[in-house]
Parts: sequence; structure tokens; C-alpha cells
Amino acid sequence: MPRAWRRGKPPISGWVQEQTEIVEDSLRKIPDTERLAAGIASLASITDPEQPYTRRPFTEFFQKGRQWLQGEMEAAGLKVRLDAAGNLVGWQAGRETLPPLMIGSHTDTVAGGGRFDGVIGIIGGVEVVRCFNEVGINLRHPLEGVEFLAEEPTDFGVSTVGSRGMVGALSPELLDKTNEQRPPLSEALTELGGCPEKVPNEVRQRGDIAAYLEMHIEQGPILDQEGIPLAAVTGIAGIRRFTVTIAGEPNHAGTTPMELRRDALVVASRFVIESELIFRSEEDSVGTVGYLQISPNMANVVPGLAELIVEMRSIDPGIIARIDERLRQKAAEIAEERGIPIRMDPLTDASPVQADPRLIEITTQACRQTDPRALVLPSGAGHDATQVGTIAPIGMIFVPSRSGISHNPAEWTDSEDIALGVQALARALVLADETF
Ligand code: GLV
Ligand code: MN
Ligand code: MN
Repeated sequence: MPRAWRRGKPPISGWVQEQTEIVEDSLRKIPDTERLAAGIASLASITDPEQPYTRRPFTEFFQKGRQWLQGEMEAAGLKVRLDAAGNLVGWQAGRETLPPLMIGSHTDTVAGGGRFDGVIGIIGGVEVVRCFNEVGINLRHPLEGVEFLAEEPTDFGVSTVGSRGMVGALSPELLDKTNEQRPPLSEALTELGGCPEKVPNEVRQRGDIAAYLEMHIEQGPILDQEGIPLAAVTGIAGIRRFTVTIAGEPNHAGTTPMELRRDALVVASRFVIESELIFRSEEDSVGTVGYLQISPNMANVVPGLAELIVEMRSIDPGIIARIDERLRQKAAEIAEERGIPIRMDPLTDASPVQADPRLIEITTQACRQTDPRALVLPSGAGHDATQVGTIAPIGMIFVPSRSGISHNPAEWTDSEDIALGVQALARALVLADETF
């Protein structure tokens, strides 16, 4: 492949011109849109029938989905293995001995999730590998396609399990996390075929991954509103989560006078309302209490215990720190007022990550070669790229989410838009192959 063309410079000879046209012609043929759409539909059919399109990690549906994906990866020419952190890793050699270019995403979903979140990144990545082999594009770098384990929050409270493991951020404390229904995360990982003890041995170091690219649905409304199919991503918001435990006292709902109650749910409700006021008062950030468990959860018992998970997100770490501080102050005030302690324990804390400046340029160029109107956007959603970005240059490409809906079975992206995303990903890989 001619270097001059890849850098976007004018061709300098007839030979270069000819090669350029051959490669451009090949890239324009990527992907096979029907095969791509069929793959996404196949994976969507492997779901919890009670709750489409759910594939929670560590469940039979997740494992069946992975089996199917492994077949696709192998059909594309990748050599596939499960790493210690439970990631499904496919490898294809390059022309030179270099660290790999990595493409990846996830196939697990939230409960009641959609068909596209994560899925299009890994199926699209595999499609690129298959197309490269079909049209004879042979990169200098090896290619690694990774389906990361459990990107979404697990029942253990930990998210991005596999990508954390790959970069050395899956600490023993996180592996020890449990909940009432589940053994520790480490056991679930072992059952799945991973190896918690060996996770530290397999941690990738800076320099081990030449560059990481992930294509994903936007999960927000901008591309859909603008009617534009592609965006290059500038950075990914950080996410800080706390478990909030409110220990009141269970008591009889018929005989306990109102003034004597130590009702954990009432205090939790206060906390939720006050948190939302704080989130609304801050700019360039969002916050959510998305998890609430009460005990004993009976109609005739004053709730004795409430456990919440609160998260705050921003691309600016200073804003996350300020919200954190304001939430703690407010929790202390409510606890004092009600005489019921509110404990806030750190759960996870993923710092905001900037995309690598070279990869912002590459993904922008790749998107604009695919559609000249392509935008450049930050990501409000978290991704495996957040973790990989702590040790390697990362870049992302977005395609639209209809009406900005995601984490919902109504999540939708047109096949034609996903196909453009895959072509932009292919172009970005070709450019990154030259740059890194
Ligand atoms: C992942 O989807 C996240 O943003 O939480
Ligand atoms: Mn998600
Ligand atoms: Mn995702």
C-alpha cells in the first residue's frame, strides 16, 4: 500500500496511482452489508427469551452468543483463545513483527438491552478482518479482535471486567466482589474458563498494543438529529460509582408510630432526590441512581436497609470530583437530620480518557472519506476503550442511535449506517497501520 496515499498526499507516480486506486476500490467494497446485518440478527436471536435482547455476562445466553462469535472469528481467519481475564481474543499475523492493532467491543448487555450496543463493534471488527482477507489487504501489524468480558455493570457491581483485566485494573478487591445471590467475581470468571490468578501475568503493558479502535453506536441523539451517519470520537467520559448503604431499622408497619421509625427507604428517597438536584445544577455532566435494593422488601415491614448505586459522569475529572464532594456533604446532612447513617463506599472509578490525537485525526479522515459530513464528538457512554486507553492510544467511531435510545430493546441503528461505520473502521485501520 502506498505510503503517500495513506497520508492523504497526492500520488507521486503512475504505479502509486494504480495501487491507490486498487486499495480505494477494495475499501469501497467493505463490508458485505447483508452478511453484517445477518450476523447482528443472529446474535440478537441468542437472548434471554423472557427479556429480549438480554445477554447478561456469565449466563448461558452469553456463553452461547460467544460460541457463535468464536465461529465467526475463526471463519474470518482469526486464531481464537480465551485469555485469563475471560476475553475472547482473536489473532491474525501481520507482514511485520510489530505490536498488534486491536479492534474490540462487547457482546454482554444490560438487562433489557438492545441489539447493537457493543455487538456492532465486535461483529463489525470481524467483518473488517474477513473483508481484508477477501480483498487481499494485508497490514504490516498483526490484527487482534477482542470481545471483552462484561463491559456492562455485572451483578458484582464491577463493569468492564475483561478490559480492566487486560490493562491491570482488575484488582483483588474487585475480583472479591460478591452479592447476595452470587459467589465472588473470581469464581464466576473461573467457571467461564478464565483464570483469576493468571490475570496479572497477562497484563498488557504500554507499547504492547500499537493502537486500539472501537466502533460503537453513539447511544445519544446527535447523529440521528443531524441526519449524519458517522462521527470520530474525541474522548470518553469518566464514570465514578459509589455503593450507598443506609442502615435504618426494620419494624412493624402497623404498630410503629411515624416519629419512631428508622425508615431506610425514606432516607434513600431523600438521597435520590437531592442527588438529582446536584446533578442538574452541574454542567457537562450527568448522574444517576440506577440501582436500589431494600430489605426486607415487604408491604408490612418498615424498610430496614437500603442499598443504592450512584454514578456520576463527565469528560472533566474536576467536575466529577466536585459532584463527589457535594454528594458526600448532602449525604452527611440527610444522615444528621434523620439520625440514620449513610455510608458511601467507592465502587469503581474510571477516569475520563482522551482519544489519541493521531487517532482522532485518523478516525476523522476515515469517517470523512466514507461520508464527508462526518462529525467529531465526545462519548458520554463508557466503553472498553476507556480501560484500554490507560495503556494504549485509542480511537472510536460512532454510528447513529435512532432517537438517541440505548440500553433499551428499542435501540436501533440502520444496517446501512452500521455498514458505513465498518467501512470507516477499515479505513482507520489502514491509516493506523501506516502511522503507528
Ligand atoms: C456502558 O454502556 C455505560 O456507559 O455504562
Ligand atoms: Mn452499554
Ligand atoms: Mn457498549
